[in-house]
Formats: sequence, C-alpha cells, structure tokens
Amino acid sequence: MEKRDQLYEGKAKVLFSTDDENKLIQYFKDDATAFNGVKKGQITDKGVLNNLISARLMGLLEVVGIPVHFIERLSEREQLVRRVEIVPVEVVVRNRAAGSMSKRLGIKEGTILPRPVVEFYLKSDELDDPLITLDHIEVFNWASHDEVDQMIEMSHRVNDVLLGYYANIGIHLIDYKLEFGRLSNDPDTLVLADEISPDSCRLWDMKTGKKLDKDRFRRDLGNVEEAYQEVVDRMGLS
Ligand code: TMP
Ligand code: ASP
Repeated sequence: MEKRDQLYEGKAKVLFSTDDENKLIQYFKDDATAFNGVKKGQITDKGVLNNLISARLMGLLEVVGIPVHFIERLSEREQLVRRVEIVPVEVVVRNRAAGSMSKRLGIKEGTILPRPVVEFYLKSDELDDPLITLDHIEVFNWASHDEVDQMIEMSHRVNDVLLGYYANIGIHLIDYKLEFGRLSNDPDTLVLADEISPDSCRLWDMKTGKKLDKDRFRRDLGNVEEAYQEVVDRMGLS
C-alpha cells in the first residue's frame, strides 16, 4: 500500500491517501488535547499504544459482525482504514455516571446506571460539542432517521462486546465515545470509524478504581503513559 498525500490532520490523528481511492492510512500522533482543544499536551508513545488498542478492539468487533472502517495495522503508528465520510455526531455510551453526565445532572461519579445510556453530541470544537437530541440530528440533516437507528443499535452491540472484553482483563468500562462514517464507495453503509482507545473511553481498574484513561491527562493525575501502557499490557499486546 503506497502512502500518498496528507488529507486531514485532526487533534490526535492524521489521514493520508493511498493508491486505492477507497482506503486511507490513519496515523496516530502523541498529541493530546482535552476540553475540545483548550488543553494541549503530549503523551509519550500514546500514538503507538492507541494504535495497538484500537486495532485490537476494532478487530474484535469486526469478528462479531459489527462493520468497522479498520482494515489492518500497518506499522507502529499506522493503520489502513476504509475511506468514510464521518457523521458529524459523537455517540457516547455510558454504563456508569461520570464526567459531563455527573456534572450536568449532579449524579455521583461511578453510579451504576440501570441500563446503558446512549447520548449524542454535535462534533464541533467551536461549539464545545453540545449535547443534542434525536430531532436535532434529523432536522439539521446530520444523519437520517435510519442512520440514527443503526448507530443506536450498533452502539449497544459494541457495548456488549467491550463490557465483556474489559471485564475479563479487570477493567470497568465506564463510558466511551464512538464515531460512525458512511463508506465513500457505498454511502448507504454505515461503519464504526475513528478509534476506540483510552483517549475516548473511561476505564477504571476493577480492584483499585485507578483511572486508566485520558482523565489522567484532563485532570492532571500524572502517570498518563503508564496507564495507557497498562491497558496494552492487560490486553496482552506488549
Ligand atoms: P464526557 O463525560 O466528557 O461527556 O465524556 C464521555 C466519554 O466520551 C468519555 O469517555 C470521553 C469521551 N469523549 C471523547 O472521546 N471526546 C470528546 O470530545 C468528549 C467530550 C468525550
Ligand atoms: N476530545 C476532546 C478534545 O480533544 C475532548 C476530550 O477528550 O476531553 O479536546
């Protein structure tokens, strides 16, 4: 696979075209941001670790029949992915209250939710990723009714798989963010895109409650790279 032009640089990743117009190379950076780009920093080797973690999780989801944009890991920081048009909606799945849910609703962090909660946010740094309703998504054409149904259904299936996977390695999956995309060569097909990594998940050690995710960076808790490395180790990827 030949790597060609840089198409897009985001906060944590860079996308390159390849000799196949329907496939891109997704490069993972060490750059870390929080609060929609307001806080900036670097986490040593985060790109390497997130590439490993996301490749494993996407691979796992694909095996159980969830469509993903991930094709294969190419190198330490690169993976080959299907080209998609990203739906401008971030889907957050919560198993326990934490973060913005705790803040907004006054629910103690760690409270177990009686069932998983799916929320939608508009993908917009300028607007600070506002929480949106299903009606907003349809009325403003960010996604169709059918796509919304698919995103909800896929999110629940992803949750079943990831909850079990993380429980097996002694980690509570508190919440996480998913992104979906329409395949460039088949726009009616929606697939899971972006990444699933400690950048986009809250992961708490089951025994000690230790945070193993980007909250260590957001909240200045220290030992950020060690926490990401611990996730890699527990996944048996080191
Ligand atoms: P929140 O509690 O700040 O709304 O975050 C919920 C989950 O989504 C948490 O695991 C972090 C993740 N997330 C992202 O990956 N990107 C974002 O822009 C936001 C706001 C949250
Ligand atoms: N992903 C967002 C940012 O990079 C928000 C966050 O993760 O806290 O700013």
